[in-house]
Amino acid sequence: MSSGPAEPSPPSPAGPATPPRLVRSAHLSWFGHMGAVYLFHDLFGFLMEMSPDIAELVDAFADGADTAETVARFTGRFGDADPQQFVDVLVSHFVLVEPDEDEIEGLWPMVAIKGKWNVWQRRGNAMTIWTAWGERPVAQILLDDEETAMWDAFDGEKRLIELRGRFDRDKLMHLVRRLVHSDTQALKLCQLPMSTFARRPQMAPRYLTSTMPYRSWRPGEPVPGTVESQVSPAAYYQGEIEDAALQFDHRETTLSHLFRVPHPALAGRTYGQALVDGLAQRGHLPTAPRAGGPARHLTVLEIGAGLGYVARDVMSRLRELGFEVDYTIVELAPALAAAQQQRLGADSARWVEGDVLAVDLPAASFDFILANEMIGDLPARYLSRTDIGLPVGDTGTADPNLVRQLGKGGELAADHGVNLDDAPEPLFLMTGAFELIDRVATWLRPGGVAILTEFGENSQWPRLSTHLDHPELSTHFGQLAALARGLGLGAHIDFVMDVIDLDRNAKGLATTRSHFRALRAMFEAAGIDLPKLGMVPEMLQELVADKLSLDKVGELRWDKIEDRLMGLVPHEFKLLALSRP
Ligand SMILES: C[S@@+](CC[C@H](N)C(=O)[O-])C[C@H]1O[C@@H](n2cnc3c(N)ncnc32)[C@H](O)[C@@H]1O
Repeated sequence: MSSGPAEPSPPSPAGPATPPRLVRSAHLSWFGHMGAVYLFHDLFGFLMEMSPDIAELVDAFADGADTAETVARFTGRFGDADPQQFVDVLVSHFVLVEPDEDEIEGLWPMVAIKGKWNVWQRRGNAMTIWTAWGERPVAQILLDDEETAMWDAFDGEKRLIELRGRFDRDKLMHLVRRLVHSDTQALKLCQLPMSTFARRPQMAPRYLTSTMPYRSWRPGEPVPGTVESQVSPAAYYQGEIEDAALQFDHRETTLSHLFRVPHPALAGRTYGQALVDGLAQRGHLPTAPRAGGPARHLTVLEIGAGLGYVARDVMSRLRELGFEVDYTIVELAPALAAAQQQRLGADSARWVEGDVLAVDLPAASFDFILANEMIGDLPARYLSRTDIGLPVGDTGTADPNLVRQLGKGGELAADHGVNLDDAPEPLFLMTGAFELIDRVATWLRPGGVAILTEFGENSQWPRLSTHLDHPELSTHFGQLAALARGLGLGAHIDFVMDVIDLDRNAKGLATTRSHFRALRAMFEAAGIDLPKLGMVPEMLQELVADKLSLDKVGELRWDKIEDRLMGLVPHEFKLLALSRP
């Protein structure tokens, strides 16, 4: 909900006085996602998030307009904000330019800096760049020998004007424009060389490392996916998932999905196996039977089982520990329930299809309940502090009567000790997750344990992820633990990576959704199926064998696995263990 361009301004070449007449640049692309709109400057690679009404201001200059008159026309349209300030920022980003300005000529003093998520392959002295932004088709950009030499000369330091003597001037400018454009996003232009930011990386403008994977949008069109007062992807799960495997490979990867095969960073175990081992070690599982003693019956409920890999491995590990397992799965998405049945065998578990907040299950009937990476999908309310009786911009105490009016989740929070007084403005209230805790408390047998994992923090209010195609929230684990204690359960929060004993020194492949799609297309062209797994260097080398030379392809970024693995940040994942005395 920013009211103005979000990027820090590069130093303004326009000087302090705004030109009397301005025209919109001829090189802009617009994108929209989850209620926000983004402007991409196709000559520089600047990326700005703004509210749709500022897009209208930009458009008012489409055919050239008098600056003062236009500013006067928009005065009052942005609350207290002065439209002149927006115009100044837009001028400093070359979004609005003087009518006789030669926009292309203005690029020569700029430094070319390579983008962060490029995918390329070298063949002799030539190379191919692969792109797959968002849902756009995979594209290849072929660079001939001379263009490849230009690419190699883009060192983040030299200005284009300095390269003009070495290369054909027109060909150089043509390549730069093609690579900076939002269709490619391989290059950014900056007024300062990268070495300026070497000691002060936080000063580097964010657009240098940002990318734009969202859908095209035009000013005047409705903004896609505006956040509504009730955030819930339930309809998405019930109706929109068509291809179950694709869902997890491209749209929504979970940590467990990345570790669905025996993995070097888990000492050769899968996520499900490592989870059971870690829970057993911490005493979070009902006591296992003695070796050679009679098997112990364990009733297990898994909520939201995705493709069924966690179920497969949890079930088998519990059996290895000597439990006789009776497994039930509650699943909302029919396509995922079908995939689970195919993976596990229709007789190996009992399926209850439906919303976990609506299904009817017997009270005190489960020894072990698991909800792995699903609570962020439950409904939440998007509210102002005033909706729960808190002042905006001042401290205060939430009004339990107002909180109760928010339905069952609100009643639970108000009546069982969930402190809401430090709410941000605006806020997401995890009403669905509160209801789940209440249901879990009812379904657990005395002595039973429930495990809920998700990305989130102990004391941070939920944040909306905007990188998926449906809304998903991070979890405030402290609030869930407080509610559970209020309902008479024991509650303990852990890092998932500690429980599964992830090797924190391992290096893993860092990708984004678009980067991975482009990488996968490039590998496929070499006859290799690149699976969505938590890739470590030895796994990738084994996969490509002699089909592809890894030193001829890029960019393969290997980050510390706890900081980034594919598109996930493993240290953000927490585990809440609830126990019924
Ligand atoms: C992000 S996936 C996680 C899947 C799996 N547990 C894993 O670790 O990969 C969320 C799962 O919860 C299911 N789900 C989402 N909302 C649900 C609800 N209200 N009731 C039951 N299942 C739900 C989804 O269909 C999906 O199977």
